[in-house]
Amino acid sequence: MKINRNFLNLKDSYLFATIGQKVNDYQKANPDAAIIRLGIGDVTLPLCPAVTEAMKEAVAEMGARETFRGYGPYEGYAFLREALCVSYAQKGVKLQSDEIFVSDGAKCDVANILDILSGDNVVLIPDPVYPVYLDTNIMDGRTVVFCDATAANEFLPLPDAGTHADIIYLCSPNNPTGSVYTHAQLAQWVAYAREHEALILFDAAYEAFIQDPSLPRSIYEVPGALECAVEIGSFSKTAGFTGTRCGWCVVPKGLIREDVPLHQLWMRRQSTKFNGVSYIVQRGAAAVFTEEGARQIRGHIDMYMGNAKIIAQTMAVHGFAYFGGDNSPYIWLQCPAGMTSWQYFDRLLEQANIVGTPGSGFGANGEGFFRLTAFGSHANTVEAMERFQTLF
Ligand code: MLT
Repeated sequence: MKINRNFLNLKDSYLFATIGQKVNDYQKANPDAAIIRLGIGDVTLPLCPAVTEAMKEAVAEMGARETFRGYGPYEGYAFLREALCVSYAQKGVKLQSDEIFVSDGAKCDVANILDILSGDNVVLIPDPVYPVYLDTNIMDGRTVVFCDATAANEFLPLPDAGTHADIIYLCSPNNPTGSVYTHAQLAQWVAYAREHEALILFDAAYEAFIQDPSLPRSIYEVPGALECAVEIGSFSKTAGFTGTRCGWCVVPKGLIREDVPLHQLWMRRQSTKFNGVSYIVQRGAAAVFTEEGARQIRGHIDMYMGNAKIIAQTMAVHGFAYFGGDNSPYIWLQCPAGMTSWQYFDRLLEQANIVGTPGSGFGANGEGFFRLTAFGSHANTVEAMERFQTLF
């Protein structure tokens, strides 16, 4: 037996696992410290009533002989796929419901989709970005090239005609920088992908946080994207499903490479390796699209975006250069002069008991930056910013 030696090329532990360990160690050593966690982007508001009511009804159905269900469709129940289809239509995107595959979350889809893509592909990853893109490709041993996201391009890198890539990761609104591509910028990526016969993996997990109606919430708002992009979405941040687990992956039928529809490969992969998301969870997710559910989750998103504003205003008052926070739940700030991301992490943890995420954990270009999330409670966000003001 031989191990997958590619794993030995990974950093010792996953970014958020490292942070979790450090914070737990600090809490053990300082049991009285009232730590405020603005690190991992985990939501704090509970599932909204429309979702929990739908789940309760689904539990009752599962407990009655007449309505009990066993294995569900591998690709998700039609009621949820159709609701997602309607939601895309509201953004002006025309999909067929069987182009949408329900999953247990965006992180899993981002990783699993690689099963249907050759290990020989060259992968283009923005630096900095959500670390799962890089780590999963290292696990498979693919060649990775980076495109620089820096303050100079407002953390929105555009394609370089001189660089060839087969697989391109885009995340907009971006994790961690909070920057959002415009239609015109995404159109450049779509043109590049079509020219290079590449595949864009578009992570739209934070689309619900876009406030500016002129910004695209799906890559399919760009003409031609249905032939070159897979889009991955999530209920995690939008509707508080980080622990409940539900997301989706759009694989358009017109997306064909080497004469093979990717849709066919993904269906084959999912039906072999995945038995679907529980009926109860899918019923809860579908409730997000009811009038009541949509209104309730809007309230949650507004609360988080209110937190983002409080954090951004504090940064502005103290003269910190920062990005994001206007169309995303992340604020990406520059560490005080000369401090590395991890030095700043230690300083905030030790002197203000605030946890954030060191920018260098998202890539080399993240060094000297720091990410704060707006997903804390309102009270904790206000308290954290008061501590921040005291510290500076
Ligand atoms: C983050 O903090 O970047 C995310 O919550 C991590 C994730 O979604 O897996």
